[in-house]
Amino acid sequence: MRQLDMLYEGKAKKVYMTDDPEVLIVEYKDDATAFNGEKRGTIVGKRAVNNRMTNYFMRLLEGCGIPTHYIEELSDTRTAVKRADIVPLEVIVRNLSAGSFAKRYGVAEGIVFKQPTVEYSYKDDSLGDPLLNTSHALALGLAVPEDLALIREYAAQINHFLKSTLSECGVTLVDFKVEFGKLTGGKIVLVDEISPDTCRFWDSKTGEKLDKDRFRLDLGNVEGAYAEMMKRLGI
Ligand code: TMP
Repeated sequence: MRQLDMLYEGKAKKVYMTDDPEVLIVEYKDDATAFNGEKRGTIVGKRAVNNRMTNYFMRLLEGCGIPTHYIEELSDTRTAVKRADIVPLEVIVRNLSAGSFAKRYGVAEGIVFKQPTVEYSYKDDSLGDPLLNTSHALALGLAVPEDLALIREYAAQINHFLKSTLSECGVTLVDFKVEFGKLTGGKIVLVDEISPDTCRFWDSKTGEKLDKDRFRLDLGNVEGAYAEMMKRLGI
């Protein structure tokens, strides 16, 4: 497969076309942003961590029956994926209070929920990714009811799987964000990434943050936390 022109550059990745119209190449970047791009920086080596961790999880999730866009890891920082039309929703699952949940509802971080919460944001940087519910998503024509139901089901299964895999590594999965796309033919698949950029990982014993919150909140040792997560997962 031959890499052709760049199709799109996002905040953390570049996407290239290939000579196969159904295949794209994703290239991860070390660039980090937070608070809708207001805070910018670099996390050295993050691109290799996020590429490898995402692919590791996507391969395992495929094995659990969750379809993904993953095809093949091409290098430390590049991966071939199936072309998909992105459903413009960020699907956020939370097991413990943290981040915008704690802020919005005025509660402390670390409250363990009896049931995970699921929420959706409309993927639109110019609007600041506003929260929406499923009736809003339907009203805006962002997805059809069957797709929304499947997305919710997949998000719950992904949470179940990631939570137990990480707990075996001494890591609590606090929350995460996933995105979905539609392949030619209409199949819904998991897209984007599953990495310390898009999840909150806390050391199960000490509560130490091992994710992008170290960058967002200026906690220091950002690269060390990303490397520690790779070590914990043994990848
Ligand atoms: P939040 O608490 O800031 O809403 O974040 C919830 C989860 O979603 C957290 O694991 C980080 C992830 N996330 C992203 O991946 N991209 C984003 O743009 C935001 C705001 C959060």
